[in-house]
Amino acid sequence: ARQRVWVSQPLFADIVARLQPHADVIATPEVTQHSPQAIAAALREVDGALVTLNDPIGAAEVADAPRLRAIANVGVGYNNLDVTALTQAGILITNTPDVLTETTADFGFALMMATARRISEAERWLRDGLWRQWSFETLLGSDVHGATLGILGMGRIGQGIARRAAGFGMRVLYHNRSRLPEAVERECRAEYVDFDELLARADHLVLVLPYSPQVHHLIDAAALAKMKPTATLTNIARGGLVDEDALADALTGGRLAAAGLDVFEGEPAVNPRLLALRNVVLTPHIASGSLATRRAMVALAVDNLIAALGFGPDAGRPPTPVNVDALKAPRARAGEG
Ligand code: GLV
Ligand code: GLV
Repeated sequence: ARQRVWVSQPLFADIVARLQPHADVIATPEVTQHSPQAIAAALREVDGALVTLNDPIGAAEVADAPRLRAIANVGVGYNNLDVTALTQAGILITNTPDVLTETTADFGFALMMATARRISEAERWLRDGLWRQWSFETLLGSDVHGATLGILGMGRIGQGIARRAAGFGMRVLYHNRSRLPEAVERECRAEYVDFDELLARADHLVLVLPYSPQVHHLIDAAALAKMKPTATLTNIARGGLVDEDALADALTGGRLAAAGLDVFEGEPAVNPRLLALRNVVLTPHIASGSLATRRAMVALAVDNLIAALGFGPDAGRPPTPVNVDALKAPRARAGEG
């Protein structure tokens, strides 16, 4: 019997079509917020799935999906997937690292700059007709060049941001679960510091660390209190890293200068207190969103899925697996069990 693949969202159809020689594709024609029940129903009869950060999948969603062997997440972050439960179920997970690194680093740097130099606020002010006369003291921001950049989470994207910072003459401090090899630190011109020192010294702090329950609200009132009142905070990782009410308090109380946020805890809903503030730049989770990179992400996810289902040159060895443990005791193919 031919294998079947569920594609949870509209992705680039010409790229997804590469699955067709290998499997029947069940497409989703419109962007959809699938209920857990709908996800479980979609997974029940398929061998593989191509999903996005919008599609949470855990034990309950795969409980009645005996054929399912692989889930290819189109994204580098995979906190929408319960890795422990899916690994126990023998389901291989893949993600899309590397192909989005430079594009996402571009955006992180741009959002940090927009936040420091008040670009969104200035444009709104202009469009609102408030520019009656040029004035020397209008919308003054803080410098990026020569400032101290703090990077929390020094993976590939964090390193990409650090390399960009060198061109702006910034001093780069970072904190990470594990310290980078010295050669990489030198290449990134980045200095390792502990979490509190990072908070205390950064003029601009950028969050680029993967989300897990262990780092939920890592940036809370206590962390924000350690930052300079003149500092900016930029988040391109996951909304759950930041206590948004504490952030709104700090921004309102003059304890933090500004924030740039591409991700939100309840996205697509945005905390109304943040929406009401002038000194926040808000974007709708688009850091990896160049056309070329979004296409490359789908292409990598499709390659992963084709290999995970046992086809193509990498059969059985998908290029970017998340839980290689699932490969040790893979599920049997439907009909072979
Ligand atoms: C997007 O947020 C991703 O993790 O790729
Ligand atoms: C995270 O996985 C990164 O690429 O920085």
